[in-house]
Amino acid sequence: MNTKIFKINPDNPQEDKLAEASEIIKKGGIVAFPTETVYGLGANALNENAVSKIFEAKGRPSDNPLIVHVANIEQVEELVEEIPQEAYKIMESFWPGPITIIFNKSKIVPDSITAGLPTVAIRMPNHKIALDLINKSELPIAAPSANLSGKPSPTTFEHVKEDLTGKIDAIIEGGFTGVGLESTVVDITTGIPTILRPGGITREDLLNLFSEVKMDPALHDSSAIPKSPGQKYKHYSPNAKVYVIQGMVTDIQKRIELLYNEYSLQGLKVGIMATKQTEKLYEGKLTINVGDRLNPETIASNLFKALRNFDDMKVDIILAEAIDDNGIGAAIMNRLNKSAGGNIITAKED
Ligand code: TXA
Ligand code: MG
Repeated sequence: MNTKIFKINPDNPQEDKLAEASEIIKKGGIVAFPTETVYGLGANALNENAVSKIFEAKGRPSDNPLIVHVANIEQVEELVEEIPQEAYKIMESFWPGPITIIFNKSKIVPDSITAGLPTVAIRMPNHKIALDLINKSELPIAAPSANLSGKPSPTTFEHVKEDLTGKIDAIIEGGFTGVGLESTVVDITTGIPTILRPGGITREDLLNLFSEVKMDPALHDSSAIPKSPGQKYKHYSPNAKVYVIQGMVTDIQKRIELLYNEYSLQGLKVGIMATKQTEKLYEGKLTINVGDRLNPETIASNLFKALRNFDDMKVDIILAEAIDDNGIGAAIMNRLNKSAGGNIITAKED
């Protein structure tokens, strides 16, 4: 398949190119586009055949449901049984923005979108190209992250091109995404809002609206079954093997030095994912500075890009520093721990 590229200015999208891209969606094709979180791979959410193309292009397991993207509340009304009070609160405070809400679905939502679940995930992205594409198509757009299943989500056009060229109808090239991690997924169908996947809108943000906000037990207990099916898969995995080193920053740094030397002696190529605060301490070693510990949004924004950059450098091992697990740090550590597939080392002074 020849994959068409539309280069569109995110601040002032060109009408004619957007019209062409939305025609592809209307005709049942699949188009990758930028959002404020990561690039998505979009199709008409009401067309089963179009949706099946998304699963095929990504190599995505069919039991992993998709998020439906909307540009207005009227579209939500059609897709859900009812809009509970909790949802209105979240939508008013955070939409358009990086939070997805789980609703009980209406009959028009195809089973292939929800993987047979009685619920549907919906979000309104905060990105001009994404919103214009939805509006021009006059359709709700189903869109998972536009990466091959299992790979880190794409935060640049180049990432999408690398994974999906030849497999999809078109890619909208629209710059770097910003937040850098996928949206928060929150379930409001069971009374107390429950975070199924941490993301750009944090638990602390939601606690400004609700007296109680739960975390899905599966986020911290690997024996629990996650309510968000996507959370059970190995994810965000670069080709290299990832180790996360947690503890006090000075202990982390010492342990990374030791591991770096150990693996290097074995003839392996090692990369260190460091932060602005620690980068200089690893002198002479292959290091990427992923961001500033005092401004963790910068780490969120760069995380997936850093993982892919290590692959481009063909490292065998990535030694990644853990960061604090609060605020956006919860989402960062969720993705990083998943990319490490459980290889988490606690560094302690002994
Ligand atoms: O930021 C984002 O959310 C990006 C951009 C493109 O919008 N999209 C994204 O989609 O991350 P995806 O498919 O990579 O992740 C969707 C997540 C999966 O973990 C999936 O299991 C969960 O949402 N999900 C979808 N429908 C659900 C439902 N009905 N119940 C529980 N979890 C659901
Ligand atoms: Mg994904």
